[in-house]
Amino acid sequence: MRHLLTLFDLTPTEVRTVLSTAVHLKRLLRDGHRPPILAGQTVGLLFEKPSLRTRVSFEAGMNQLGGGSLFLGEDVGWGKRESPADFTRVLGQFLDAVICRAKSHDRVEELARFEAVSVINGLTDLSHPCQALADILTVGEVFSGGDDFHFDALRGRHVMFVGDGNNVARSLALHCAILDMPFTLACPDGYAIDDIWLQRVRNAYPNAQISRVEDPGDAISDVDVIYTDVWTSMGQEAEAAERRKIFAPYRVDAKLMSKAPKTACVLHCLPAVRGEEITQEVIDGPQSQIIRQAGNRMHAQKGLLVWMLAPNWVSEHVK
Ligand code: CP
Ligand code: NVA
Repeated sequence: MRHLLTLFDLTPTEVRTVLSTAVHLKRLLRDGHRPPILAGQTVGLLFEKPSLRTRVSFEAGMNQLGGGSLFLGEDVGWGKRESPADFTRVLGQFLDAVICRAKSHDRVEELARFEAVSVINGLTDLSHPCQALADILTVGEVFSGGDDFHFDALRGRHVMFVGDGNNVARSLALHCAILDMPFTLACPDGYAIDDIWLQRVRNAYPNAQISRVEDPGDAISDVDVIYTDVWTSMGQEAEAAERRKIFAPYRVDAKLMSKAPKTACVLHCLPAVRGEEITQEVIDGPQSQIIRQAGNRMHAQKGLLVWMLAPNWVSEHVK
């Protein structure tokens, strides 16, 4: 039984296979084909935080693959009505996988621990692996020069994340390490990616090129991707006022973008707070690939679902 709690759960070869499967399925869809690869399979979406992209992209993706999805809201009583052991073992009787968005990463680990059902992390405070898969799919497409994707186009691409060293930044840094791409975090003191995560990345990928700058202007002339996310993540609302002050110099605006290569693209996982971490003109500007990136959530996750739930199809169809 396989899980995806963080991208540490996949080998580099598996990450590549997931991306290749996503690309293959995206091409099929573009040509009008929706093969029912997951017919008869059902995933559950167990969410204790709001979501637009993750929920809708998983549900639509499962539909396109001929399978079904069930949104499991508050009323299923996760952590409230019964023990985690009973909860997950019962789910395992009905479902092929659970996509889980939790307030704390421990809750998702706890579900997976019983080995009763495959668990996919749909965002925790620690990590957002599905987002990172879509992000790299997007970077590969952008630098392949069109809608297609080539791994070669990723080689040496330098990703700079401007803002908080949060769940999205951690997952992206790890995905860059897996694919041997340089990653720089531009953040204020006290908001870097934690040492425990960085050490795990370096232990798994000793050649990881991860660095940190305080001023995004110091690195931006040398990057291919400028990525940002909200300054206050879900669950940190009490710190919002303080974060607004601390992160004010980290806004991705036209002034910062004037120092970036014209070929660089701008990404944001969304939802964005326009005017805070990114200005209107940048998010809607010519270098933004943000809407394509959001669309790629579905394509990347279709690749993941088929890799996880129909491995034989992948061996037969994906090179
Ligand atoms: N990027 C992302 O995960 O969006 P949602 O919170 O809307 O799912
Ligand atoms: N860092 C953000 C990402 C939302 C998709 C959060 O956790 O709220």
